[in-house]
Amino acid sequence: MTHRTQVAIVGAGPAGLLLGQLLHLNGIDSVIVENRSREYVIDRVRAGVLEQGTVDLMKAMGVSAGLERAGLRHEGVYISFLGQRHHINFPELTGGKAITVYGQNEVVRDLIDARLETSRPLYFEAEDVSVGDLDSTTPTVHFRYDGAEQEVRCDFIAGCDGFHGICRPSIPAGVLAIYERIYPFGWLGILAEAAPSSEELVYTLHERGFALFSMRSPKVTRLYLQVPPDESIDNWSDDAIWDEMLRRMTTRDGWKPNIGRITQKSVTPMRSFVAAPMRYGRLFLAGDAAHIVPPTGAKGLNLAASDVLVLGRALKGFYGRGSMEWLDEYSDLCLRRVWKAQRFSWWMTSTLHRSPDETAFDHQRQIADLDYLTSSRAAMTSLAEQYVGLPAEVSFESAGLKA
Ligand code: APR
Ligand code: PHB
Repeated sequence: MTHRTQVAIVGAGPAGLLLGQLLHLNGIDSVIVENRSREYVIDRVRAGVLEQGTVDLMKAMGVSAGLERAGLRHEGVYISFLGQRHHINFPELTGGKAITVYGQNEVVRDLIDARLETSRPLYFEAEDVSVGDLDSTTPTVHFRYDGAEQEVRCDFIAGCDGFHGICRPSIPAGVLAIYERIYPFGWLGILAEAAPSSEELVYTLHERGFALFSMRSPKVTRLYLQVPPDESIDNWSDDAIWDEMLRRMTTRDGWKPNIGRITQKSVTPMRSFVAAPMRYGRLFLAGDAAHIVPPTGAKGLNLAASDVLVLGRALKGFYGRGSMEWLDEYSDLCLRRVWKAQRFSWWMTSTLHRSPDETAFDHQRQIADLDYLTSSRAAMTSLAEQYVGLPAEVSFESAGLKA
């Protein structure tokens, strides 16, 4: 079967779904092709911090009902070291901005609902997805659906298929420059049926390594521990996890997370990765397909959202004015913001984790970094403005949205 559309979107994660919605609002047709099932895409446990700009974007796109109902507005974070928590207040330091804690799986659920309401096509469980004719004006996406071969002919392909997708590897060798850093640790993450014992996130540097206190709802706590990158989750009984969490997180004033039944646990490795440019011919990469950040800065989902804003504007420019100008600017505009988020995520990661090869000097420097951070208004302002999110590179209006 052959389908014809304007933009073929590969991947129904936050990047692909947000782009589909933004194009829809601009009257631009798209087909979304996802290789996993709807349930898998929704249930996959991922990050949960939305920058102010991501919240504003979802509001402007009319997909914020869930987030306005169940999202938790956080006006700061705690940084904890040497047994003491230090608060950083966002609105005070950023002219009123904050973050919202709302699980990425909820974001994806809401976006799938919005997509289905538009009646525009979204294929789950597409098999053997491939992209072709990328340097022509009529690129194609091929896949098998319900046993039948499908071809989508389009003007542009948006590669929103994440880090392990097929779009980036379809670009001929030698075109992309790859920038990468692999960290010598990973995160063991859990979800627990326990009321959050703090209203805001707590990032901890402890002698024994990093730990993070977060949450998903008034009844669910989300916690992370630094572990070796190849650690098997089978090495960690629930009791061992709680022992280590409490050991790293308990502060001298007695604060600690509440304990509850662990409902999910997994280990993820950490890396920084950028592929540039984020384009080859008529294929445009967005989100994790083009870049990965370590989760310490909570930037992954937010970068996907800012790429989509720039790509949506560029496609609107093409269909509205017949101009390639904004498409030609796409990669450079995105990468400016991506690199600043990379730098921030690398800094948060290196300042808050213990490296196997660090020296005693390195550790004292980390403590001094955190002491400076939590005692200087200038340093706290720098963290706050990056944590709530640096400004988007383009306006909402230019992408066809009301601010
Ligand atoms: N064909 C079709 N879809 C694919 C293929 C393929 N060959 N390979 C992967 N996909 C799908 C994945 O199943 C997933 O649903 O592409 C989607 C990519 O979604 P994400 O990995 O969530 O990436 P993105 O939309 O860029 O969102 C970035 O996700 O990884 C987190 O923390 C990261 O928050 C960030 C966000
Ligand atoms: C999360 O809640 O999953 C979370 C929060 C902050 C981070 C990373 C993950 O930096």
